[in-house]
Amino acid sequence: MKSGLEDVVAAETVLSDVDGKNGRLIVRGVSLDDLVLTSRFEDVVALLFDGFLPSPPDLRAALGAARVAVFGHLAEAGTVVDLPPVEGVRALLARLPDGDDLSTALELVAAPAVFTAGLLRLKAGLAPIAPDPELSQAADALRMLRGSMPSAEQVSALDRYMVTVADHGLNASTFAARVVASTQAGLTSSVLAALSALKGPLHGGAPGPVLDMLDGVGTPGNAEAWIGAALGDGERLMGFGHRVYRVRDPRADALKAAVRMLAASGAIDANRLALAEAVEEAALQQLRLRKPDRALDTNVEFYTALLLEALGFPREAFTCVFAMGRVAGWVAHAREQAETGRLIRPMSVYVGPVPRVAA
Ligand code: ACO
Repeated sequence: MKSGLEDVVAAETVLSDVDGKNGRLIVRGVSLDDLVLTSRFEDVVALLFDGFLPSPPDLRAALGAARVAVFGHLAEAGTVVDLPPVEGVRALLARLPDGDDLSTALELVAAPAVFTAGLLRLKAGLAPIAPDPELSQAADALRMLRGSMPSAEQVSALDRYMVTVADHGLNASTFAARVVASTQAGLTSSVLAALSALKGPLHGGAPGPVLDMLDGVGTPGNAEAWIGAALGDGERLMGFGHRVYRVRDPRADALKAAVRMLAASGAIDANRLALAEAVEEAALQQLRLRKPDRALDTNVEFYTALLLEALGFPREAFTCVFAMGRVAGWVAHAREQAETGRLIRPMSVYVGPVPRVAA
């Protein structure tokens, strides 16, 4: 039995490869370092869907139309608005048809952006803003959230974020999607399972707590003492460590660069960035001292927190924004798994009591 299925291979995939030893992520033959420089989110959706779903002639337009198609569900949001954002998005996603065709796939990729922006506005007592199908998914997500056009730097930062997190091997949420897809349930069921797995703080729920940590530290000068006390109390530092990476998570670098670009355009407070850098330095120093054999380094969630905060997303909605990007990978993996026709059904070792044998 491998606790946490560590090192267990449970699928063959052409979608992405997480090389934990060398700190490299490859998405369909392209390294993440190149992908973030050459591709927009729509290009990555097309790349991931290729061969698993029919290609629409213009994926950006098709995604725009899908945003318009799902917008109507916000009118019937009802008490869903009172739920935490990620649960609200999950409840609305559950209303989409459970198909396995391109139209379902596009609606699933479009929906987290539309539902997140709309639910956040409804929570604030504001009317949701209808999608603009002419815009890119990143630009429209920010516009639907704020009601005004974001700057080019802000669009580019959100786009880079969604590209960076679009797919990542057999992570917990993608595995959940594949397990459901292996039963031949529809794509919506797979995405609902994946989002439920993403929600937990050990997976996609970490960036909100990263900001709580930064708030707790307060000033760069306090970083060393605060981190020392937290580790002394046996706490886990959010935004550090990874099951597969034994060196730095390459996504952390892609997002750190985006954060620096935002800072250069004045969209991130210089003091906030300085605080984050001081916390990162103190955390890495002390994790290396305390866990010399574990190679704990910065993961994707650390700079995600700063980036999404600067873009105006409230921290309780960060997991929804993660889903806005990762949904592309979930859908592609669900199709890839369903095509194998093979049910995922592992075994467990029974360690409970056995029935008494009658004398
Ligand atoms: N801070 C302090 N100690 C840590 C951390 C951390 N962030 N991560 C791992 N450790 C320690 C553990 O306490 C454990 O110590 P022990 O051997 O003395 O008990 C040791 O390192 C190994 O930890 P595991 O739990 O075996 O590592 P695992 O591979 O299961 O954990 C995980 C990976 C869950 C990401 C972990 O590093 C963690 O909890 N990090 C904080 C939460 C986080 O940032 N999550 C986002 C991950 S990225 C993503 O999912 C998108």
